[in-house]
Amino acid sequence: MAGLAVNVDHIATLRQARGVNYPDPVAAAVLAELAGADGIVVHLREDRRHIQDRDVYLLRKTVLSKLILEMAATDKMLTIAADVKPELVTLVPEKREELTTEGGLDVITHADTVAKAIATLHRHKIKVSLFIDPATDQIQKARDIDADMIEIHTGAFCDARTPAEKDTAFAAIIEAAKTAARLNLGVNAGHGLCYNTIKWFRGLNEIDEFSIGHSIIARAALVGMQQAVKDMLNLVNAL
Ligand code: PXP
Repeated sequence: MAGLAVNVDHIATLRQARGVNYPDPVAAAVLAELAGADGIVVHLREDRRHIQDRDVYLLRKTVLSKLILEMAATDKMLTIAADVKPELVTLVPEKREELTTEGGLDVITHADTVAKAIATLHRHKIKVSLFIDPATDQIQKARDIDADMIEIHTGAFCDARTPAEKDTAFAAIIEAAKTAARLNLGVNAGHGLCYNTIKWFRGLNEIDEFSIGHSIIARAALVGMQQAVKDMLNLVNAL
């Protein structure tokens, strides 16, 4: 059965919009865990547009499930990760030139940098996932440079406008999940998933965990954090 990791970045977005100290992503993480989340995800961006260093350090002390840190493969971020020791680091692109055409981290072009980051994190006993497009060459490269997992970028699928585009994009996700599992890579999936698109994943048993933020936080604004997480968990558990 797939798990659900809840990304609380956008609680911090709301806080930063006013430059005040509420709402607190740490409080949101507690509520997400009480509702049954299998992990808490935060993306520490170089411009600190939402999550702050203080959030990451506090979450390290409060998260009871597992803490997943999304970050760029830079020296500064690696130093923070080595200090915080999250259960998993997901390496994501920070700058446009690190992106593939679809939007995942281009691990082929940046193989050296990403491989060095993986080796550093492994020295600190931190598992590493790579956020990549559903493309066989990217998945093979992730395997070659010793990633533990991949996170399939589901943005192209979620953004697809026509049924035909959606079918094509989802076929690529199926192929990617099966390829990664065959290569003994763990398989996460995320970006743009909502209470409707999640239903497409029924029967795709290769996915270990979904990483979902915006749609859950958006629903939480109306029905509360625990209800929003439970609603998504019910859908994930029914896959
Ligand atoms: N996975 C990764 C690697 C991401 O960068 C994001 C967005 O921060 C997500 C998952 C969650 O995406 P969303 O907020 O659209 O659910």
